[in-house]
Formats: sequence, C-alpha cells, structure tokens
Amino acid sequence: MVDDDAQVRSALVRVIESQGLECLEAASGADALDVLRIQGEVPVCISDIYMPEMDGVTFLREALRLYPDMAIIMLTGVAEVTTAVECLQLGALDYISKPVLIDEVRARLQKALEKRELILQNRFYQQHLESRVGELDRRNKQSLINGVQMLVHALEAKDAYTSGHSARVSRYAVKTAVRLGYTGDRLEAIRLGGELHDIGKIGTREAILNKPGPLTMDEFEHIKVHVMLGERILAPFLTESPSVLRIVRSHHERMDGGGFPDGLRGDAIPPEARLVAVVDAFDAMTTNRAYRPSRTPPEAVEELRQCAGLHFDPDVVEAFQAAFPDVAALPLHV
Ligand SMILES: [Fe+2]
Repeated sequence: MVDDDAQVRSALVRVIESQGLECLEAASGADALDVLRIQGEVPVCISDIYMPEMDGVTFLREALRLYPDMAIIMLTGVAEVTTAVECLQLGALDYISKPVLIDEVRARLQKALEKRELILQNRFYQQHLESRVGELDRRNKQSLINGVQMLVHALEAKDAYTSGHSARVSRYAVKTAVRLGYTGDRLEAIRLGGELHDIGKIGTREAILNKPGPLTMDEFEHIKVHVMLGERILAPFLTESPSVLRIVRSHHERMDGGGFPDGLRGDAIPPEARLVAVVDAFDAMTTNRAYRPSRTPPEAVEELRQCAGLHFDPDVVEAFQAAFPDVAALPLHV
C-alpha cells in the first residue's frame, strides 16, 4: 500500500488485512521500491499517484520493469482520468477513484488477484507447452537421425566401398558448405544429404557395385538408377527437407549438362547438389574402388580444378580447397 497520506494508507491497510492478506506500507514510490527490494515481489500493489519524492507513475514504470508480473492498482483523483488511462497504458492492472469506498477496494483487490493468477497460469501453460513442443521436436530430429543411420548401415552392409564414404562425403560437404555461407537448417540438409546421397544403391546389384573392371553401358544405366531410386525411398521420410531430396537426385548432374538423371546445366542444378557432387567426386577419387586404385589427394584436387566449369561448380571447388587447405591431411578418416 503506497500513499504519502498516512490516514488513507492505514485505512486501506486495514481493509486489505481484513481480507486475510498481509500488507506492507510505503509513503512514496522510492520507499515502495526499497520495501520491494527487501521483501521481494508482492502479488498486488495499490499506489497513489501524487506523492513527494517519486510519484505513482514513475513508481509504476520502475516497479513493472523490476517485477513485470506484479498487479498494480492506481489510486486516482476524480479529475485525473487522463493520468489513470496513462497508467493503464503503462501496464497498471486497474485504478480506483478517490474518495475510496471500502467495498470497491475489496472487489478490485479480489479481481486483481484473480487476474494475476490467470496471467501466471497462462504463462505457465504456454511455457510448459513450448518446452513440450521443443522436446517433441528434439525427439523427432533424433528419430530422423536414427532412421538415416539405419539406411546408411543397410547400404554399407551391401557395398563395402560405401562404408565410410557417406560419412566422409557428409563431413567434406559440411565444411565446404560453411565456407559458402550455409548455416542452420540449410547446413543440416547438407549434412543429411551427404550421408544419404547414394542410398539408392540399395537397389543396385552387388555384382555391379563390386565389379572389378569397367562397366558396360547396360551396367552403367543400371547404376544411374540409384539417384532416382534414392529420392523415391526417402521422399515419404523427408517431406520437410526437399533440399536433401535434391541432393540425392541431382548429385550426378554436371555443369555442362552431361550428367544424369535430368541433364541439368549450370545454375539449373540445385546448389546443394552441385556442392555434394564435388566432395563426392573427391572422395571417390581418393578411395580404393573395386575397379581402380585411388588417386592421391593432390591429384584429386588437381582433377577437380581441371574439371571446374565443365563438370563441377568452380565456386564449390574453390570453397572445398579453402575448407581443406592442408591437402596432405586428406582423406578424412571417419
Ligand atoms: Fe552417387
């Protein structure tokens, strides 16, 4: 109860205490802030407007800044309607006109307490709901990651070469993507897309996957299917991540239009697929495959540079080199 008029103050304190409530007193805004500092936040505060030292409006502002959940009721003279409205705009919950009627104080006090309770409850539910939604979101993401791991393991069980390939491509891709300014969800899509880009090889015949010599035309056509099959396998699972699907479908496109499956050219190739195409090729070149021994990392980088513009996006080749300046430390071991 904040009022410089001791008579009004003690009368109101009695009213409040008669409600079974505990009441603290202060003779000015500054006093009231001191009391609050010592006692901590109170649920409801009734404050006069005209007081020496610190007036009610200043007190209201300061009190709400420190204790935003406090319900504040202002006491106003009949002629102070404008100030009362200003107080409501500043966040006061209510105002009572002087001269004060005891029954009115009781009723407003009760109402203010109820209103504050509702606001707090509301906030609690909202926060609770937010954290619950956040938890569900985390679990969803975890199931997605588990699902991705399951698919990658399924492919690796069938094709020894891909063991580690997906993980390395993903790591090369993420570091290169960071160089290109990818962040947040876009970067996460690169990580997933790197892991999953070859998942369609689950449908490729093992004899072809592990063939020691060069492929016949028919065999190559059969291998090419993996990009579209991968997209089809993942589509129901990744409805919210279209860029991962674009990586899976388009990571064998070439800048000159000579790639597959769509023969896209230049900028028509999704940027995330152009990115994975470069690091995929690098890892393919620096890993022993069934049909040929690996190249050294410097040879592979040179090959990327030679083919920049024709086969690969030159910006990505540059970003890849910037991301891995120490070629001697490559390939990555995962
Ligand atoms: Fe592939």
